[in-house]
Amino acid sequence: MKKERVLVTSALPYANGPIHLGHLSGAYLPADIYVRYKRLNGDDIIYICGSDEHGVPITISADKENVKPNVIIDRYHEQNKSAFEKFGMSFDIYSRTSLPIHHKNAQEFFKNYYDNKLLIEKKTLQFYDNKAQMFLPDRYVEGTCPKCGFEEARSDECENCGSLYEPNELINPKSKISGGTPELKETSHWYFPLGNYQEFLESYIKEMNEKHGWKENVIQYCKGWFKDGLKDRAVTRDLDWGVEVPLENSKGKVIYVWFEAVLGYISATKELSEKLNKPDLWKEYWQNQDTKYIAFIGKDNIVFHTIIFPAMLKACNDNNDDKYVYPQNVPANEFLNFEGKKFSKSRGWGIDVDEFLNLFPTDPLRYTLASNLPENKDTDFYWKEFQAKNNNELADILGNFINRTFIFTQKHFENKVPPRGTLTDMDTEMLKTIEEYPLKISKLIEKYKIKDAVLEMMNLARNANKYFNDSEPSKTVKSNKEVCATTVNICLQTIYTLAEVFYPVIPTSSEKLFTSLNAKPTEWLNSGKSNLEVGHKLNKTEIIFTKIEDEIIQKQIDKLPSEVEENKDEEITFEEFSKVKLKIAKIVHAENIKKSKKLLKLKLKLGNSKRQVIAGIAQHYSPEDLINKKVVIVSNLKPAKLFGELSEGMLLAVEDKNGKLKVLEVDELVNDGTEVR
Ligand code: MF3
Ligand code: ZN
Repeated sequence: MKKERVLVTSALPYANGPIHLGHLSGAYLPADIYVRYKRLNGDDIIYICGSDEHGVPITISADKENVKPNVIIDRYHEQNKSAFEKFGMSFDIYSRTSLPIHHKNAQEFFKNYYDNKLLIEKKTLQFYDNKAQMFLPDRYVEGTCPKCGFEEARSDECENCGSLYEPNELINPKSKISGGTPELKETSHWYFPLGNYQEFLESYIKEMNEKHGWKENVIQYCKGWFKDGLKDRAVTRDLDWGVEVPLENSKGKVIYVWFEAVLGYISATKELSEKLNKPDLWKEYWQNQDTKYIAFIGKDNIVFHTIIFPAMLKACNDNNDDKYVYPQNVPANEFLNFEGKKFSKSRGWGIDVDEFLNLFPTDPLRYTLASNLPENKDTDFYWKEFQAKNNNELADILGNFINRTFIFTQKHFENKVPPRGTLTDMDTEMLKTIEEYPLKISKLIEKYKIKDAVLEMMNLARNANKYFNDSEPSKTVKSNKEVCATTVNICLQTIYTLAEVFYPVIPTSSEKLFTSLNAKPTEWLNSGKSNLEVGHKLNKTEIIFTKIEDEIIQKQIDKLPSEVEENKDEEITFEEFSKVKLKIAKIVHAENIKKSKKLLKLKLKLGNSKRQVIAGIAQHYSPEDLINKKVVIVSNLKPAKLFGELSEGMLLAVEDKNGKLKVLEVDELVNDGTEVR
């Protein structure tokens, strides 16, 4: 197979909490398997990762503990780095975005855009907390999503429906710092003209998809973005933690975390080059057009890697002689849940990597996660399944075959590879099988179908067990030693193949196997040949996989909190409920709000009184459809201003199964102004 130069990155995890199993399944284990396979295949590959140490996720964690952000990032960078090591992640470097080399790199990019007149300065309105006397970053503001009505949406991004919007579109904003209603105040920010790159991005993604087969979920997601139309994006923030904006008169402003974190991949590669004393090495990977760049991420990071980062690189390439490569593929995974529910640190649901690996060895965890990767849909980690994967597959299939073969070799053939005699059809068949599997598995890994590849690895072990059983060496050892020797020879060659093809998934066990075989791995596609010479002496062997007892697993299950209900609603008293006044209102007038695709201005009649409500339903209703509808509103909601318009209440609506909003209505017989009870 043609050797390739490959650059692999895994999303830089925020250094604001410990890595859990869900992270591993998303962006890390699949990448590590790919990279380990590529290295054995003889490809020229580097694997880059590190901590994302800026942005509001970090400052929020720091605020919670009442410490400086430094304390948080230092703690979790070290903790996550060592958890990744324990888990066998084979990064070439695990860097950090707080390093000077990254600040310099990110500022250079920013300055380059600025010097080339790409950045647009805009005065905007931003939430300002008068009590705390500060501009509120996105995540410090919570309100109702103008698109889907989700009530815990951030100021510019909704976790529920994934849409991005301007802060002034958020409905009923609340400051997370003081709890009060923040005010929109003017500030100025730099915008990146993302819209200018839509045409390029559409054709880039189309081409990559045609050539390299992108995942359907990724393509669909991008199409959604294109359909809405890409817009200018603010790339600076008023915050005192991050990479400072390298321009005059920009005190107190930093580069938006996502706009610099993706550049962290490049900074980390530069750092690696310096460490290796080859300062220009990074260019080989980032700027040599033959490089194949693969970005492994979880689904929540798609837009940043398929749209924003490529647009940033394109903008740079348009204005400079050295050209960066674009991601050739972005195999984003869905999420892993834990025992049927979302991982939740605060609710004690799930387990950290470090904690897990203090209890169990690494390889059974890697194998369990790898055979159940959320490649096409969300999947779950179950303790019982972990036990079953370990006991019934690693120990009973793979381990059993290896042990039986080694014991036979020691007992009857002086722990040396015995010679083969005449081959039966069954022998020939088995030799063909081990020749075929490495290619079969590599084809799947090359397509990022890691889960299927792992299934095939175990299938090879299944075949091997069947061959051992059908060949009946315990009979032939007495009746015909030459036949027995042939079987054992082939079984040992098979162990070699297994050790190699399983290496990317269970590297520690695989290395033990190679030690027992007294051999070294060979180039991937040759691993199915007969690699062990007749007479080759093996080393002492050990049991590689041990079973996990029921009690041990039960203990872990018992540790889980029993009361966890996903999104369990907080209970309120009747008094609290009765504070909410719900009333029937008749819509007498409705119109679009200029400059907002999402909001409608409604005039309502409630008995003798009138009021105005701004509702985020413009994408679900046209104004004329709403006239004369009798709807339910929260009538005593504190008034707020949206797009300069007063909103005195909130419409109740539900989302149907197609994601369309429907306002709750009552019929003609109910008078407007009536209270809902
Ligand atoms: N820190 C982000 C997260 O954990 C991922 C950043 S990926 C990078 O979701 F490309 F920006 F580095
Ligand atoms: Zn939403």
